Amino acid sequence: MEIPHPSRVPRATLPALRAVEGVLACVSKPLACYHLMTTTAVDLKSVTLTYGPFVAVKDVDLAIEKGSFVTLLGPSGCGKTTILRSIAGLVTPTSGEIVVAGRLINDVPIYKRNIGLVFQNYALFPHKTVEDNIAFGLKYRDVPRLEIARKVKRALDMVRLPGVEKKLPSQLSGGQQQRIALARAIVIEPDVLLLDEPLSALDANLREEMRTELKIIQREVGITTIFVTHDQEEALAMSDRIVVMNHGLIEQNGTPEEVYRTPSSRFVASFLGQSNLIAGTIASNTRGKAKITLDSGASIDAAAPASAKKGSKVTVVVRAQRLEVGKKAAAGSNRLQGRIAATSYLGGTAIYIIEAEGLKLQANTIIDTHVFREGDAVDVSFSPGDCVLLGEDDRRLA
Ligand SMILES: Nc1ncnc2c1ncn2[C@@H]1O[C@H](COP(=O)(O)OP(=O)(O)O)[C@@H](O)[C@H]1O
Ligand SMILES: [Mg+2]
Repeated sequence: MEIPHPSRVPRATLPALRAVEGVLACVSKPLACYHLMTTTAVDLKSVTLTYGPFVAVKDVDLAIEKGSFVTLLGPSGCGKTTILRSIAGLVTPTSGEIVVAGRLINDVPIYKRNIGLVFQNYALFPHKTVEDNIAFGLKYRDVPRLEIARKVKRALDMVRLPGVEKKLPSQLSGGQQQRIALARAIVIEPDVLLLDEPLSALDANLREEMRTELKIIQREVGITTIFVTHDQEEALAMSDRIVVMNHGLIEQNGTPEEVYRTPSSRFVASFLGQSNLIAGTIASNTRGKAKITLDSGASIDAAAPASAKKGSKVTVVVRAQRLEVGKKAAAGSNRLQGRIAATSYLGGTAIYIIEAEGLKLQANTIIDTHVFREGDAVDVSFSPGDCVLLGEDDRRLA
């Protein structure tokens, strides 16, 4: 079996096709005994990967639980694809260990790994039928013909595209082609499914629909999935855990709620969700509550660990959704007086930019009755419990 002649394939898709050929051509059987022994499907231990002098992935430790949906989230160039490629076997780590299904696979060639891979650009073989595209990896494994037909049909049912076996990819829409790529990846029953920005080529509506669909399919199949995106909404909506990356390092690894509510650094607070970052100095800290003097001289209360020492400079992080505007502040809440600088009215919700105490604050609020307009004087309130404190190194104080 060969990939199509280069002259018949758009140049950009060739490397992806070659990668798919390598990954799908796996002939090894998963080691069933390890599945029973461990709930960790993928374990990266101190993985570093360099391209010449450039360190793309730095000392990454990441354990991924069997059956979970884990997202690598971060800006372009932070090393997400490099991690996927190292698990797939397309690149070799400079140091560290990659364990999949209990087996150290650093030196296992790509075609002997049992891994499903889906790219952003689908990378379907354009001159093969849907059936032949999906059957590609199965044929390598000498699966009997009848069984191949049965598995292909089942995979098409799973991705909700029954009956398109004889079509060519070009006869299908972008979203349908992406489903075929997914069917091709899951039909080999891989130990782990790797999805590299699979939705970014789709238009906005379809992307949202596929987001939900993909998650449902993942749950039904129960397959361990590592999903790569730079889209925070996608990450929040789909993941059991989000691994936030920056410059080849893991900044935070947690559930969507954890990374949203308690960002571990200034980078996470800014990259994921909208945050207000307020500079101040610890005036006192007793029994888990600190008084913080803002640069304007105003004072706020914030939940604080004992490590927030009197006199130290901190940044208070408060999510835009946690600010209340124009409401009677709850007992014990912080209250700042300000003025609306801008209103974005979004129907059920509004985004306000408020000038208060020399700060520009953003509040994303649900509108119940009144919409404030530019120039309105308002009180802004937020609970001390909704504050996260960052130290001078921009890390959350713990
Ligand atoms: N083959 C390569 N040679 C040299 N540098 C590379 C190569 N592949 C990726 N890089 C660099 O490694 C960094 C991480 O790349 P990548 O993992 O593709 O990032 P992401 O998927 O997060 O956008 C980037 O700075 C990129 O330019
Ligand atoms: Mg990438």
